[in-house]
Amino acid sequence: MKKIAVLTSGGDAPGMNPAIRAIVRRGIFQGMEIFGVRLGFEGLVRGDYFSMDLGSVGDIIHRGGTMLRSARCPQFREEESQQEALRQLRAAGIEGLIVIGGDGSFQGAAQLTKRGFPTIGIPGTIDNDIRGTEYTIGFDTAVNTVVEAIDKIRDTASSHERTYVIEVMGRDAGDIALWSGLCVGAESILIPEAPYDVEDVIARIDHGNRRGKRHSIIVVAEGVCSGMEIAKSLEARAGLETRVTVLGHLQRGGSPTAYDRMIASKMGAQAVDLLLEGEKEGMIGIQSGKLVHVSFDPTNKRQGLDLSVYHLARSLSI
Ligand code: F6P
Repeated sequence: MKKIAVLTSGGDAPGMNPAIRAIVRRGIFQGMEIFGVRLGFEGLVRGDYFSMDLGSVGDIIHRGGTMLRSARCPQFREEESQQEALRQLRAAGIEGLIVIGGDGSFQGAAQLTKRGFPTIGIPGTIDNDIRGTEYTIGFDTAVNTVVEAIDKIRDTASSHERTYVIEVMGRDAGDIALWSGLCVGAESILIPEAPYDVEDVIARIDHGNRRGKRHSIIVVAEGVCSGMEIAKSLEARAGLETRVTVLGHLQRGGSPTAYDRMIASKMGAQAVDLLLEGEKEGMIGIQSGKLVHVSFDPTNKRQGLDLSVYHLARSLSI
């Protein structure tokens, strides 16, 4: 295999740039020509590629976002778009593709492999919610961003003796909420993977107040409900003075942490090597801390969230 392409798709995640860098540099090291696809599957359908050299990925290892730009592309679910993308790829002499993205992006990638085009996925999303891997690039950076933000909010929470409800991203997954909640010592962490009860949240706040605590932090995953909803219940049922912060898209940006750069570099290089070895489908994942090659099989299990961390957090915030 001599010519391969790389694209980033779905929500951007810190670490996508180091992954692109690793793909380009490893590919060139292996004697290949690498093409960058602009704007994810949209660019794939339009044939919007450019040849990448060593210098084209210089000075990006520390940058958030993606130099290739990204898009969500619902139109790629249609066979017509998939066939057009394949026609463009073959016309350009490109023999393999690496897709950096989340679940939706891998559904697109799986369609290409089904039609015989070698495609390897690299899990890149802050949500940490991709089946078949316990880690996705961007998660560590996002958690660190959330922790830093909540540490600041905590200063105000304690100065004003308030309860703060912080809503974090994660789509249907509670990983960001769980990790950041434990790391800031939140009184309650509400995640979609565990049932919650507002009375329990109130009881935990009361318990803290009785032993002299002057503020409380409640972290809510967006997959549970909005932070505003929780705040309204706390005010209505317990008369608590509450403030809500929705951290929003600031969780997606920023310079990738060392951990994300490391995993992105390893996964990027591995994806190139797999294509060279003749692998035709599947993604790189991490299982039991090791890099693995797993198929795009939609029946793969989610491995990210570890409920024992939830119980640990509850036992430490008493
Ligand atoms: O998948 C990443 C993510 O940031 C989710 O956590 C969030 O629900 C969603 O994307 C937001 O998407 P958009 O940027 O399209 O609003």
